[in-house]
Amino acid sequence: MSTEVQKLLIATNNSGKIHELRDFLDTLPFELLNLSDFPDCADVEETGATFAENAQLKASGYAMQTGLLSLADDSGLEVESLDGRPGVLSARYGGPDTNFTQKMDLLLTELNKTGDIIRSARFVCSIAVADSDGRILSTSEGICEGKISSIPYGSGGFGYDPIFIPEGYEQTFGELNERVKQKISHRFRAFEEIIPFLRHFEAV
Ligand code: IMP
Repeated sequence: MSTEVQKLLIATNNSGKIHELRDFLDTLPFELLNLSDFPDCADVEETGATFAENAQLKASGYAMQTGLLSLADDSGLEVESLDGRPGVLSARYGGPDTNFTQKMDLLLTELNKTGDIIRSARFVCSIAVADSDGRILSTSEGICEGKISSIPYGSGGFGYDPIFIPEGYEQTFGELNERVKQKISHRFRAFEEIIPFLRHFEAV
């Protein structure tokens, strides 16, 4: 029996995501790599219409390029009264040259125009794991329900965290202790669902 530790590529460059997942990742029986270990890897375009499709495209695409078991996620913010926007375009909302202060301003302006006072929204995260041939082995999805604040609050987390108030709380993810987000986030929920698969994974 080989004692070599299996490698797992976490197919992201987003340091915010890797930081939030560290508690999970530390418990996995894999040698972990991420995309910064493969500077020559070509970006896999997120051309899917859903988070699940994009997660699968990225897991397969990076697995085939690196020859490694690969895990990818796709996530974003869906605002109810904006018909689910920015959704799969969360990272690209407002165009490629806008920063998150501008993206949040744009979203608040759009949402204010709707007259919606409930401001319901949800973060969604889909995860896919692909083998070295690009075949999808497992998928999961996690959702965190909440609402959009009137203005950005706090500077913790990343992305849209300063304008998202998770259900059951009065403060945004930007203000709440990061440990709170790690327990209730969409990413936490999606990972929790896929962890049993990863723990029991055996290469064939
Ligand atoms: P992805 O890298 O294609 O999954 O893009 C996800 C985008 O959705 C990020 O760039 C953020 O804009 C947003 N997003 C996803 N998860 C979070 C989160 O936990 N907090 C804040 N923004 C998030």
